Amino acid sequence: MSKNYSEEELYQFPFRDKSLELEERVKDLLSRLTLEEKFKLCSGRLMWHTKPIKRLGVKPFTMYDGPHGVRPDTMGEIKSTYFPSAICRAATWDPELSHEFGKAVAEEVRDVGAHMLLAPGINIQRTPMNGRTFEYQTEDPHLNKILAVATVKGIQSQKIAACVKHFVCNNQETNRFTVSSEVSERALQEIYLPAFKATVQEADAWSFMTCYNKVNGIYGSENYNLLRERLMEQWGFRGFTVSDWNATANTSTGSCVTAGLSLEMPTAKKYNKRNMKKAFQEGKFTEDSLNDNIKRLLRVMFLVGLFDDKNTLPSGNRNTLEHQSIARKIAENGIVLLKNKDALLPLNIDKLKKLAIVGPNANLKFGGGDMLAGGGSSVNYPPYEITPLEGLKQKCRDRVEIIETPSKADVTILFAGLNHEHGMDAEGEDRNKFELPLEQIELIKRTVKQNPNTIVILINGSPIAMSDWIDSVPSVIEAWYGGMEVGNAIANVLFGDVNPSGKLPLTFPKKLSDSPAHNSERSFPGVEERVFYDEGIYVGYRYFDKEQIDPLFPFGYGLSYTTFNYENLKLDKEKFTKNDTVTVSLDIVNSGNRSGMEIIQLYIQDIKSSIDRPPKELKQFKKVKLEPNERKTVELTLNFDDFSFYDDSTHSWVVEPGTFNILLGSSSRDIHLQKEIEYFE
Ligand code: GLC
Repeated sequence: MSKNYSEEELYQFPFRDKSLELEERVKDLLSRLTLEEKFKLCSGRLMWHTKPIKRLGVKPFTMYDGPHGVRPDTMGEIKSTYFPSAICRAATWDPELSHEFGKAVAEEVRDVGAHMLLAPGINIQRTPMNGRTFEYQTEDPHLNKILAVATVKGIQSQKIAACVKHFVCNNQETNRFTVSSEVSERALQEIYLPAFKATVQEADAWSFMTCYNKVNGIYGSENYNLLRERLMEQWGFRGFTVSDWNATANTSTGSCVTAGLSLEMPTAKKYNKRNMKKAFQEGKFTEDSLNDNIKRLLRVMFLVGLFDDKNTLPSGNRNTLEHQSIARKIAENGIVLLKNKDALLPLNIDKLKKLAIVGPNANLKFGGGDMLAGGGSSVNYPPYEITPLEGLKQKCRDRVEIIETPSKADVTILFAGLNHEHGMDAEGEDRNKFELPLEQIELIKRTVKQNPNTIVILINGSPIAMSDWIDSVPSVIEAWYGGMEVGNAIANVLFGDVNPSGKLPLTFPKKLSDSPAHNSERSFPGVEERVFYDEGIYVGYRYFDKEQIDPLFPFGYGLSYTTFNYENLKLDKEKFTKNDTVTVSLDIVNSGNRSGMEIIQLYIQDIKSSIDRPPKELKQFKKVKLEPNERKTVELTLNFDDFSFYDDSTHSWVVEPGTFNILLGSSSRDIHLQKEIEYFE
């Protein structure tokens, strides 16, 4: 066995020379690794680390979950900020907040001595029953892309690697280790791949996590077409791929190496020394493939500063007031006001005398607990968590009396929703019921009888049916799993310190059978471990629009305590061609008496096309803040890509000559202005 070099000797090697180009350093280190050392670098140890190569001073590269806060391997001893769930962050429609989240969580990753965060999770929400809906962002590819890019940029701004997951079509938990997602090329291109592709081409993602499932019959970890061809050759990915934990179980060593899987986690199975040697000797993979996989991992090791002095790296930070206020801001901006009959909200703290607070989710904590209590691998352990009840007690203090009897209160707040127990919002299995638990429905009906001024606040991470009770409830708020500051966020919204501005990032169907994935067992949860994406590109609102089904609440929907007018839509041209951009401008006016934020949504509609296209597709959006009576002119820019569809026959993106409608709305079903434009060749 070759001797270990001393630190002084190692400093002489080019790969330790910071003045050299990154690729030079990678090349030098790669050239010094023996074949056995390369095999060692291909698999993890102790759940969260790569193996050290002591001879060359290569330290372990450490990665931790998760998408809502960092979770070091200390069973909760080391605390960290518990940010709102990804679906809550998506409901803000605010890429700046996503970037702020990314930066903050990366500071915490650095502070605990790690190099990569196993996030963001950006799988499309194809079915509301997916157990991990709360960990993902949206049903729409454009919103998914914008928020994913911002999150990755935020994380990597701190020289911490983002690990974009789970690549790809991991859209359910049922049979997640073996199911094959059978999906068309057009649906891949228009719905499932765009956000992943954008994190590479717009955010230079340093890592991708391969999915448990098969895609069109081939496991994600050995899927040559997905990894080597699309991700690396077509998109230009320069980072490394890591398997989901034990996702290589049913694969073969040679096919994973050849496909481009750099790192097998959490430990060496297919990539153990014996298997690697045997597969290599049998010609199941080439040294070139192996070298490329290793080079990618080494590259990211240099990017995160694994070989640099700690004092030259961004400093870590954890559990700071700044991070906690970011968590609160995301929760406040992610809250969606679904109903507010007779403007019962906001409550007036000076006039309200007695407030009743009831319901199973009023005082539940979702951070921490065992893996299951927190929803699976996304759990982390905050230093504190303000529950809704605690937040309201702090807000009301001695100004409003908080009681538990609705009939004796002026207003009652009823906290309902789901949790991370089996069959609800939890990794490892999908939801087993679309409605609220029966006892909650009965509680709502009972409470409304005792006090008609009952506000229902939902704490959950995925759509639920409400038809049983919503007509009898004057106000409804969707507050999601809003992280460690959710109680303060809810209290601020209820009493009007914050005007709710969130919009639904996915459709809330009236009933499950209205949802496109639920037309047959084939399409969910699948038959004989194959799930058929028969709906194709018609995911979410695309389907509800095409089939003219009214949802309970549409994609992009959310009320405010004020009102907004859309006026004066203008296009800078009436006709456009391939290399043109189209500038859309409109005025947005706050016609109410309270400042607020509005998310303007721009959809396109291809009036006549040779193949079927959705009635509308989101292509731009912008969140604007307006004081009462303030008017702002907003400009949004479109280009060829925004009007295009993927043409299977030519494997290319196409815009056909003809008329398009440009639609401006406050939700996918509330279009306020529209104008036609002509595309010509
Ligand atoms: C889990 C999850 C993945 C997580 C990993 C490590 O099974 O699928 O999202 O990052 O394993 O915990």
